[in-house]
Amino acid sequence: MLDLRSHDAGRPAAAGDAWWRSAAIYQLYVRSFADGNGDGIGDLGGVREHLTYLAGLGIDAVWFNPWYPSPMSDAGYDISDYRNIEPAFGTLADADALIAEAHAVGIRIIIDVVPNHGSDQHPWFQAALTARAGSPERARFWFRPGRGPGGDLPPNGWQSIFGGPAWTRITEPDGSPGEWYLHLFAPEQPDFNWANPEVRAEFEAVLRFWFDRGADGIRIDSAALLTKDAALPEVAPDTPPGPHHPYSDRDDVHEIYRSWRAVADEYQSRVLIGEIWIPDAERLARYVGPGELHTVFNFPYLSCPWDAAQLREVIDNTLALNAPSGAPATWVLSNHDVDRIVSRLGRPDTAFSLQQRSYFHGLPVDLALGTRRARAAALLTLALPGSVYVYQGEELGLWEVQDIADRLRQDPIWYRSGAADPGRDGSRVPLPWSGTEPPFGFSPAGASAQPWLPQPGGWQELSVEAETGRADSMLELYRSALAIRRSEPALGDGTMTWVPAADGVLVFDRGATVRCVVNISGQAARLPEHAGLLLSSGPMDSELLPPDSAVWLRTGNA
Ligand code: NOJ
Ligand code: CA
Repeated sequence: MLDLRSHDAGRPAAAGDAWWRSAAIYQLYVRSFADGNGDGIGDLGGVREHLTYLAGLGIDAVWFNPWYPSPMSDAGYDISDYRNIEPAFGTLADADALIAEAHAVGIRIIIDVVPNHGSDQHPWFQAALTARAGSPERARFWFRPGRGPGGDLPPNGWQSIFGGPAWTRITEPDGSPGEWYLHLFAPEQPDFNWANPEVRAEFEAVLRFWFDRGADGIRIDSAALLTKDAALPEVAPDTPPGPHHPYSDRDDVHEIYRSWRAVADEYQSRVLIGEIWIPDAERLARYVGPGELHTVFNFPYLSCPWDAAQLREVIDNTLALNAPSGAPATWVLSNHDVDRIVSRLGRPDTAFSLQQRSYFHGLPVDLALGTRRARAAALLTLALPGSVYVYQGEELGLWEVQDIADRLRQDPIWYRSGAADPGRDGSRVPLPWSGTEPPFGFSPAGASAQPWLPQPGGWQELSVEAETGRADSMLELYRSALAIRRSEPALGDGTMTWVPAADGVLVFDRGATVRCVVNISGQAARLPEHAGLLLSSGPMDSELLPPDSAVWLRTGNA
């Protein structure tokens, strides 16, 4: 029997119950972080070996992308058992040990919960396939007869977010062509029916399972998509998410989060974080309203171009959306679904959108420029009020790998779009830790397999080993910035005040002691008055801040 108290005893005590309001959270993509056993796939053993690296980086928590058993049709977002660990990653005992060891070095653990859909290999879906139409087993999903003669057409025209129809037809147990089931993502990811009380009860039990094991928080995948209009009406492509959309951001999704919050509140200081890709600030604000989620991801910031006016607008909107509930903002530069920040900021068009990935990949990338800007963006991001996410490899300045051979690509987006969309593999390439050639310490010496995606040779200079102690490296910039962010009471949670500045220059104060200046104009900017320099993103020419760079200044008498 697991001793639950021992998990609580080891939990970091710092900063009281609302630790997540200021937290720097490291997004750890298990498959690509570190391979402990040499099969070319990252695993929990690899993570445990590098906990001191994470503690030394100065982060407060780690969010793990899904670590459950999965056929990996969507890199783990197709879960076949919500109460276990993917065998390629390790065992439940490894997860228990990892949670305890992480807590012991002051790192909290956030796990990914995927409630919208499971894997087609999940026992519930397998049971549904062998049950009859109209059975309780099928009622946990969205099974429907097809339209047209013989039911040959899908029940409606909804399209999968990964491309192609959102419906797949099954063969009934007697061998006849059968019903269709709904999958907003890949066919291997059938959508659960959240109108079914069994589904609700199951996920509450899953939350308790992981909270009881010591998880400090939950990142909720596709959080706006859970509830559907049971009439399954057609949807025009430009229908905005909201009450009239058949499956995105419907009003009835909120009662689910109120019940999850009640579960979280039974435990101490557990956080619920929503992944919600809706741009409407007012609708988004409802998710952090009373008794719901603690925070939501901030995707407008992640796709905002490198432009002072637009950044300022996104920052102001974000703070305004969180203001009524008092929820802290979250700031994210990149994640496992979007292009790496160095590449994005090195292109002539520095925006990003999931729908236009192939256009962005077609643009030239100036890596030196992108790196300079990414350094400035890091200081901007880490100075903003609230919590912040660092996607693994961002702290090394890794770029988007755009030249992966087609036959090695793994992302279902690539396959389902008929190769029209390059997909997300380029941001998921295994980390370089040390050495001069692949696998760059990702796998141990004598490993039996290559890393699951090939690493560029140029990453030799971006390994943890190569960057450690190099004053101008991205890694040392992140280490310094995270250390200052942690020790300065004015940073993290709180308020900010804009200071008037020249066009293209962002200046804001955090309390009376810290001022952040970001120069996105085309020319050097004169620094405002200050009492000292805390940190700069690049070389400085006395009182002039070069373009595409940022500084943290000491103000007042602190
Ligand atoms: C969002 C996740 O971040 C993404 O990686 C995944 O493919 C979809 N949700 C579906 O689960
Ligand atoms: Ca491995």
